[in-house]
Amino acid sequence: MRNFLDIHTTSQAELRAMIDQARAMKTARDGLPKGTTDAQTPLDGRMVALIFEKPSTRTRVSFDVGVRQMGGQTMVLSGKEMQLGHGESIADTARVLSRFVDLIMLRTFEEATLLEMAEHATVPVINGLTDASHPCQIMADIVTYEEHRGPIAGRKFVWSGDGNNVCASWLHAAGQFGFDLTFTGPETLDPDPRAVEFARSRGSRVEILRDPLEAAKDADAIVTDTWVSMHDPESARERRHNQLRPYQVNARMMGEAKPDALFMHCLPAHRNEEATSEVMDGPQSVIFDESENRLHAQKAILRWCLGV
Ligand code: CP
Ligand code: NVA
Repeated sequence: MRNFLDIHTTSQAELRAMIDQARAMKTARDGLPKGTTDAQTPLDGRMVALIFEKPSTRTRVSFDVGVRQMGGQTMVLSGKEMQLGHGESIADTARVLSRFVDLIMLRTFEEATLLEMAEHATVPVINGLTDASHPCQIMADIVTYEEHRGPIAGRKFVWSGDGNNVCASWLHAAGQFGFDLTFTGPETLDPDPRAVEFARSRGSRVEILRDPLEAAKDADAIVTDTWVSMHDPESARERRHNQLRPYQVNARMMGEAKPDALFMHCLPAHRNEEATSEVMDGPQSVIFDESENRLHAQKAILRWCLGV
């Protein structure tokens, strides 16, 4: 039984095996109708709980479809409608769910909630996003980068904007997959120093620059995300917009990167805020491949967790 809680707490060899399996499983499904099962159904007889304490489109649908394609069944649970949202402890929820289901995917606020669920569950737990990280997204993004441009090792990624949960997982991935990451954004929104330290400790070059055009120079990929995350207070919106406007990914910024640089965004996006529609819909953008690859990456993660 294995939990998939974060990229920096999973071994490099296991991460690489999951990426490669995701790509193989994607190829194997090529041309199959969406609602059919895979040729092999390793999740036959398995029940998976998908718990959401925050909204979701991609995570919810990709996990649900992925489990079903592998022969398993899902139940999608909203935290608010569970006793969890009305005072039952995380530990007791974990113990109870473990009697009914074979795996728990949790999207929640504090990282501590995820860790407590994993500690008390007797079935694998997958991180479907916390305030601190979003590892499933970045696994899908690595699949996406490599299918377009080959090995990610040695590349220069640029993160422009808020140093948020998705940025932290990119930093974890930089350390584990051997690429460099330049962060550009306002100082008050710098990434989690623990994630920066992790990437550097593994030999990645991590730069923090305030000038977005200088940062974008020679990038192999430019990545951004919403300026206001689900865990950010609504009252911070205006200030964040003012601070982050210079970090919008637009044609000028893309022009500083390598000519074959990719534009990446985990979505959902706020068009013409963190990135222009021109870039999002342009030839360098792979945003919808990133969404599709959630399915393939998470199928590999589910199999690894369940050992099937
Ligand atoms: N990227 C992502 O996790 O999207 P959802 O919030 O729609 O799940
Ligand atoms: N940083 C965003 C990612 C959404 C998928 C958030 O946490 O809201």
